[in-house]
Amino acid sequence: MKIWDKCGRSQGLPCTSDCGIIPMMKLYLATHNQNKLREIRQIAPSFEIIAEDAAVDEAARTFVGNARLKVRHIAAMHPGSYVLADDSGLEVDALGGAPGVRSARYAGVVDDPAAANNALLLKNLADVPADQRTAHFTCAMVLAAPDGREFVRTGRCSGHIAFEPSGGGGFGYDPLFVPDGDERTFAELSPAEKNAISHRGKALRKIAPLLDAEGNM
Ligand code: IMP
Repeated sequence: MKIWDKCGRSQGLPCTSDCGIIPMMKLYLATHNQNKLREIRQIAPSFEIIAEDAAVDEAARTFVGNARLKVRHIAAMHPGSYVLADDSGLEVDALGGAPGVRSARYAGVVDDPAAANNALLLKNLADVPADQRTAHFTCAMVLAAPDGREFVRTGRCSGHIAFEPSGGGGFGYDPLFVPDGDERTFAELSPAEKNAISHRGKALRKIAPLLDAEGNM
């Protein structure tokens, strides 16, 4: 065994091997989304970030509940490590908060669901006038520490749903969502412009100081 492997800090614990090496702590991230991976790498440079599949049934009724399910699933697979999971979605006021936690599977399509989800959303809002098409994205992030502590942070971005899709960037409902203070949809913004105001960007910026503090413990 390399001395590196014996160092407790690699597991988020105090170093007991007296090796003098300060290895990076592992942070498992419950996603295979390359954009999320890149964003987390930028805000948590003192961690070795490893993507992990959180194949759980997202059965909770809240974004925080689903993020907790994902984080606990992965924490059970990698005891002694830090784990970060998020869950997000779109809530439309005129639809009583739908699609909400069902955002990914709103139209019931599993493979490449975005086009079907957007079409259903437009159909359900067909009779809703411009001033009643308000909506917001929410992102819940849960960070689990090796000792079982869980930190929850959320981010929100408000806006409205357009009458037709515009833009080729982003993913999911981006072509229909116009954030407050702009006339363009999320899909017409650059990644940097979207990150600066998005629900996920906001949640990430709240998680960043926590990771910083944990990484320097
Ligand atoms: P996830 O849980 O973060 O993977 O997001 C669940 C679903 O919410 C996605 O499949 C999208 O349909 C929707 N969603 C979440 N965040 C965004 C976003 O930033 N833009 C567009 N759609 C999003």
